[in-house]
Amino acid sequence: MKHNNIIQSLLPAIDGIPNIQKRVLLLLKQRLDIHNPAVKLHQALCHSALAPAKYIRSCWIYTIGQHFNAPIATLDTLAVAAECIHTFSLIHDDLPAMDDDDMRRGRSSCHVAFDEATAILAGDSLQSLAFSMLSEKQTEIHLEKQIQIIHTFAQSIGLFGMAAGQSLDMQGSDSCSIQELEKIHLYKTAKLIQACIECAFIASEQYSISTLESIQNYGKHIGLAFQINDDLLDISLSDGQLGKPSNSDIKNQKATYPAILGYNGAIDQLESHLLLAQEAIGPFNIPSLDAVHQLMGLSHTLERHIKN
Ligand code: IPE
Ligand code: IPE
Ligand code: MG
Ligand code: MG
Ligand code: MG
Repeated sequence: MKHNNIIQSLLPAIDGIPNIQKRVLLLLKQRLDIHNPAVKLHQALCHSALAPAKYIRSCWIYTIGQHFNAPIATLDTLAVAAECIHTFSLIHDDLPAMDDDDMRRGRSSCHVAFDEATAILAGDSLQSLAFSMLSEKQTEIHLEKQIQIIHTFAQSIGLFGMAAGQSLDMQGSDSCSIQELEKIHLYKTAKLIQACIECAFIASEQYSISTLESIQNYGKHIGLAFQINDDLLDISLSDGQLGKPSNSDIKNQKATYPAILGYNGAIDQLESHLLLAQEAIGPFNIPSLDAVHQLMGLSHTLERHIKN
């Protein structure tokens, strides 16, 4: 297969967000450049997975992994797997049975560009592709660590992670409690982000159980901040700026931070989770994380006093 022929030195370096984004897109293209008898399924998968995205989960993986000296080849695998899992979640999230959104990453959603059955199968295929890549023979890390990584990703997206969160999200209403809301956001979004950050650390030379708790805390709080910010973006930007339909949460009467706490209440929560994330990761002194946080688009903090 062509992806086995990737020449590492031809890939962009891992210095700064734009290079990470270029590198991940190139790796994804090479991974998906395969002959498949199900031509339509393969096209649908590429339509969504190769559409313009921030690759923020990969940015966390490379930034944390590099800081703690994880092997680059392992980080490449983690990044591509994480992006495949994430794209799978978006394809299913947009389906008529879920958020019923017809635009994603500036393109027609997968089920609109193709059809519902193909979109469901494209999501399924991306998920299994991710685990297939994570379980390929790796020479850079010990087998025990590889299993720990596979377990961490699997836990973060199933019954104890994203699927649970998406189920709660579908049942939630804009009158649910703040505790219930935090649970939804933790499971549907923060768990996968936490897993990306955690796995980059597990792969590193400096991995230790005593430090793991701080890394997990950072992942949890930055993941919660990420989803609160996404809720705020939903009501603040246009379809064109978002690349997905704005006001989707209002349309679906979703449990979101602005719906339940108001705009300023949501900003307060965003700031408090950012602070907790900073407290957890601060002692490790990783200045390159600032650029990743900026990629989240935290401009709401500045807009705060303008809105109300
Ligand atoms: C959107 O994720 C879905 C959420 C979990 C909020 P991103 O904002 O990372 O979407 P892309 O990957 O850049 O399109
Ligand atoms: C999605 O949350 C979380 C996922 C697990 C995909 P949203 O439904 O708010 O994500 P967007 O706004 O559609 O990207
Ligand atoms: Mg949703
Ligand atoms: Mg959605
Ligand atoms: Mg959203």
